[in-house]
Formats: sequence, C-alpha cells, structure tokens
Amino acid sequence: METAKTRKQDGPTEMGTMHRRRFLKSAAAAGAGLIVLRSGALGAGAPSKKLNIAMIGTWGRAGAHFRTASKENIVALCDVDENHLASAAKKFPKAKTYVDWRNCLDHKGLDAVICCTTDHTHAFIANWSLNRGLHCFCEKPLGNTVEEARVVRANYLKNKNKLATQVGMQRHAIENFNRVRELVLDGAIGELSAAYAWGNRQLRRKGYLPAQGQPPSHLHYDLWIGPSPFHPYNPGYFTGGPGSNCLRWNMFWDFGSGQVGDMGSHTMDLAWNALDADLPTTAEGEGEKFNPDVTPVELHMSWDIPANDWRPGIRVHWYQGGPMPKSPKNYVDLKRIGHGAMFKGSKGFLVADFNSRILMPYGRQSDLTYYKPRTKDTVIPPLGHFQEEWTNACKGNLKTSCDFDYGGKMIEMMLLGMVAYRIGKKLNYNGKTGRVTNNTKANALLSRKYRTGWTLNG
Ligand SMILES: NC(=O)c1ccc[n+]([C@@H]2O[C@H](COP(=O)([O-])OP(=O)(O)OC[C@H]3O[C@@H](n4cnc5c(N)ncnc54)[C@H](O)[C@@H]3O)[C@@H](O)[C@H]2O)c1
Repeated sequence: METAKTRKQDGPTEMGTMHRRRFLKSAAAAGAGLIVLRSGALGAGAPSKKLNIAMIGTWGRAGAHFRTASKENIVALCDVDENHLASAAKKFPKAKTYVDWRNCLDHKGLDAVICCTTDHTHAFIANWSLNRGLHCFCEKPLGNTVEEARVVRANYLKNKNKLATQVGMQRHAIENFNRVRELVLDGAIGELSAAYAWGNRQLRRKGYLPAQGQPPSHLHYDLWIGPSPFHPYNPGYFTGGPGSNCLRWNMFWDFGSGQVGDMGSHTMDLAWNALDADLPTTAEGEGEKFNPDVTPVELHMSWDIPANDWRPGIRVHWYQGGPMPKSPKNYVDLKRIGHGAMFKGSKGFLVADFNSRILMPYGRQSDLTYYKPRTKDTVIPPLGHFQEEWTNACKGNLKTSCDFDYGGKMIEMMLLGMVAYRIGKKLNYNGKTGRVTNNTKANALLSRKYRTGWTLNG
C-alpha cells in the first residue's frame, strides 16, 4: 500500500511495470473505440519513438525547452510575433508555422504540445490540447482564474490514463525540494501546524499602458490579446528580454496574476511539495488598496488546508512584495531569503530557500531523538531533468511530478486567495463544487468573461 513516506519513491522499474499494465488496458479500450487519440499519437509503450510536438510561444521562455524539444520532432511552431516565429523556424526548419494556436492544434499527427505563451492563454491552450488527445507541458501558471485551473485539472483527471502533463515549475527538480519534504514528512519538526511561502519581488505599475502607436506588422496584436478584454497596443508590453518579457505584462489582471502566478508558482511549490495538500476550506487575503488594472504587489493570503493521513489540518500562508511571516527567532532574518518557505511544527521550524534549508528544533522536547533520518536507499530519488521527465512520461509511464492535478490544485488555492483579497472577507470554500459558500460576490470573481469568439472548452 502506498503511504506518505513511500509516495514519491517508486523506482523506474516498478513504474514501468505499472505503466505497461495500464497501457495494455488503454490499448484494449482504444480498440473498442473508447479512446480518441490523434493519428500520430504514440500512446504509451513506444519509448523509442520520437514525439511530434507543437511549440506554442517560440521565443523567450520557449528557449528553455529547445534542448529537450530538439530530441523529439518539432513539427509545428506557433507565435503571434512573426519575427519570433521566423527565428524559431531557423532552428526547426521542418516545422510548419502558425500564428493562431487554434489552427496549430489541428496540425495533423501531433502527439504533444509545449505552451510558452502569455498566462491569459495557458488554460485555453492546455484545455484544447487535452481535448484533442495531446500531451501537454504548460508553462506556469496553469490558469488565471479559479475556474480555469479547475477546468484544466478536471479535464486532465479524466484523461490521466492516457495523457502526460507538466506545469512549468521546473525548480521542483532541485533536490532540496525532496530533502525539505523528507524532513517535514518524517517528523523532524514534530507535528506540522503551518506552512509559509514568500517572495520579495516588487514590480509596481499604475494601470494598463496608454495607447501608443500601431502594432508592428510582424505582431498579430489582436491574437496576443486573445480571449482577454481588448487593451490598446503599447510597445511597453514587449520590451523585456527573452524569458523576462513576462514581467512587462503579468501584473495586469487581464494578462496574468502578478507574482502569485509568477514566482508564487515556484516558491509555493517548495512548500506544497511537502504538504500532500488538498484544496482549502477557507481563504483570506489582505494587501495594498485594490487596483482594477493591476494585481497587488503587497499581499498576504492564507488558507485552511484539511487534514490528511499523516498530519492534522494546517494553515498555509503566502506573502509577497513586503509583508513577511514572523521569524521564529530574531537571529534568523527571513528577509535575507528573497524567495523562501518555512514550516512550523510542534517541535520546531524548518526554513528553506530553493537550494538549502535550516532546521530549528525548538523547546524542551526537541532533542531530535524522535526523528530518524532516512537511510540512503530510502531517500526520495532525484526526478532528473524536468522537461525530460515529461517527454519520457509521454512515451512511457505518464507520470510527472507537477502534473495538472498537483499544479492545478496549488494555483487554484492561490487564485482563490486573490478573490478573498478582492472581497476583503474570509471566504469559506467547497473544493468539490468549486464554490464559495458564504459570499455570492466572490463566486462571480472565480471566473472571467472572454471576448466574443473565444471559448475555454474548444
Ligand atoms: N518556468 C519559468 O521559470 C519561467 C520563466 C520565464 C517565463 N515563464 C513563463 O513563460 C511564459 C512566457 O514568458 P516570456 O517571458 O517568454 O513571455 P513573452 O511575452 O516573451 O512570450 C513568449 C512568446 O510567446 C509568444 N506569444 C504570446 N502570446 C501568444 C499567443 N497567444 N500565441 C502564440 N504565441 C504567443 C510571444 O510572441 C513570444 O514569442 C509565461 O507564462 C511565463 O510565466 C516561466
């Protein structure tokens, strides 16, 4: 039986066997016409074959996918900026090029999609990919609203016996994530009662940028706006360097969720990975004055997370842009950790950044005799290369560390916190129905309206 301690320790051989069984089952079902896979789909069990991949968003963050993608067949490239498209086409000359991802997803023979576009299109591209029987790697965050995160996660759960997914939270592959998880799970700080994550990035903007000039001829600006309400063109949305242009648009509500979806996706993951958490039952949020254009810089959100099989119910907190959790001891200056996490237990604290951790046993009972470090053969094995974990999963056991269930739940919690911040009241939440049970206005903020012609479920 799987226990909390063994959950992340399946060896490759075991997973391979499990997978082969699942594949035979899927193949039988497909024969009966029960599974719709695209003609080029590898399905499972064909690890030596290359994947036929569409890359949507081909510049900036996409560059971090080129090395892994080059080992597969890049058959389609899509970008709303024809200059970016042309530059990627030089690298992948055999690929057909598209400017509209809706057409790209209908490219014949696709197996999988890598999505590196603006945040406000992620849930669309991810959901449409799953609807077409395509494996999907989606850059973080998986969605911009609670509804988007839920729709994509539910679709994945329906398809998880045939599709592999991964949210781009690649820091998850840093081995410190496993070490932190082991310390929490194995009781190094006693019984867990709270977890905190924070980030110090401050990108202040007043409002959407004013209309300035015309979009250049190589940029399909209306497609860039996509499903979001129209905002006039301003070159300021496009002046960031490769991989950091997201910092030019992700703080605006219609394009992103600010640092919540940005560094929040990575830093909350450091905590989330050690919690085995389900959706929260409450959400609270406080921060700077609400700006209808721009997401808050200064923000503190918190949630009640239900008990699971190895710990009681806990409080989880997110702080950004200034507000910080209280340090357990004034000789530990948490502000020196730009992006970090802390765990509070009955016998002490654990403080971590992405690469290191400090354990602070606390109080008279904390002599550490209650805690047994793992033996070498029981430590959680490294997951290896994050992008390759997904390409291998597409061709193999379908198992990834940050699938749309894991990443979807985490971002749903964070986005619900932003709704609580907007409402300014403690919300009670039913994770099964995805509804706030004590505030009607909050329910209206769980989703957003799309421009005519755009549907999340296409
Ligand atoms: N995992 C990480 O560490 C990490 C790091 C940086 C960025 N990101 C994520 O990657 C994504 C892209 O960030 P970026 O800085 O590269 O942004 P960017 O603005 O440079 O966009 C990347 C590319 O996507 C194209 N694009 C935008 N919208 C498109 C659409 N609808 N269809 C097709 N192409 C489209 C752009 O023209 C550009 O070529 C963001 O969601 C961001 O959160 C993740």
